[in-house]
Amino acid sequence: MTSEVSYEGLPELEEEATGRLRAAGTLDDLAQLEGEFLGRSGRLADLQKGLGRLPADQRKDAGLALNAVRARLREVLDETGTILEATERSRRLELDRLDLTEVLPGRQQGRHHPVTQTRDRLEDTFIGMGYAVAEGPEVETDWHNFEALNIPPAHPARASHDTLYLDWGEPESTLVRTHTSPVQIRLMQSQPPPIYAVMPGRVYRKDTPDPRHIPGFSQIEGLVVDRGITFADLAGTIETFTHAYFGPGINSRLRPSYFPFTEPSAEFEITCPICTGTGCRTCSDTGWLELGGCGMVHPNVFSAVGIDSEEWSGFAFGFGIDRLLQVFHAIPDMRVLLDNDLRFLSQF
Ligand code: DAH
Repeated sequence: MTSEVSYEGLPELEEEATGRLRAAGTLDDLAQLEGEFLGRSGRLADLQKGLGRLPADQRKDAGLALNAVRARLREVLDETGTILEATERSRRLELDRLDLTEVLPGRQQGRHHPVTQTRDRLEDTFIGMGYAVAEGPEVETDWHNFEALNIPPAHPARASHDTLYLDWGEPESTLVRTHTSPVQIRLMQSQPPPIYAVMPGRVYRKDTPDPRHIPGFSQIEGLVVDRGITFADLAGTIETFTHAYFGPGINSRLRPSYFPFTEPSAEFEITCPICTGTGCRTCSDTGWLELGGCGMVHPNVFSAVGIDSEEWSGFAFGFGIDRLLQVFHAIPDMRVLLDNDLRFLSQF
């Protein structure tokens, strides 16, 4: 092989480079050595530049020798790289490994996701107030999600929902529910009043994730239908729930609002749990935080499900579980709720 022809300093360089490449401890070290020997201004390149100073009859062989050394060093580099990649990968795996087999007596081994914990606490609070818990499907018909809730096609309220439709049946007839309110409809269809129920569950909107929005989140809905239910019952229920869930220092208030399925409608606010009402950034210095919506069940909703609104009246409410959790724990970015990062989850 012509590469055996010596070009001054080349065999020594090859020996040194081979030794140091093989001894590299990390991929970073290897990349550094690659630059030092094989890089554009590396030591082989220096020798290459020196070729021109050789007598013309030696240039060709020296050039060939240089190329052969370059090729052999590349091989060493690739081999070492493959080995180092494998070791680094198994080291990373080892670090990320969860030992699910170890049982330490008296130690909690796992826990529910903070959203599930919040949902459980909300359910418990309402069960304590005499409510039942009901659930409905996440895939809904347009009728349950919108029309029966007094939101006919082309109603402007639809625009605020950023609905995800499924490719199923007639166009835009099937969707993933945008709120838990359709469960009210299913409940009223499936049982006669009186009804006292809460309905937690996941809902979906075509939202771009950002610190205050995730496209799949959880809500809890409430529905009461009985004889003689008034707005005062609604206000009293919200206040009772607020004290039961947040403790005595946190109060509630209602402000006029609009929802198609309730009349009159209100937004309910609670004392900001971060500053307990003195004003802070979270509550924009108002001392109050909006939690959700509520109101008296609209007569059109009753007639959609065949309940006589002369005999029965009722109220409904709904709010976001993730948002409640975010506010309560001052979580700056809601997206951590989807990441399943143990550094976040183990704090709950
Ligand atoms: N469904 C509403 C939403 O997703 C929340 C809501 C408002 C529910 C008022 C209700 C209600 O039951 O009465 O924004």
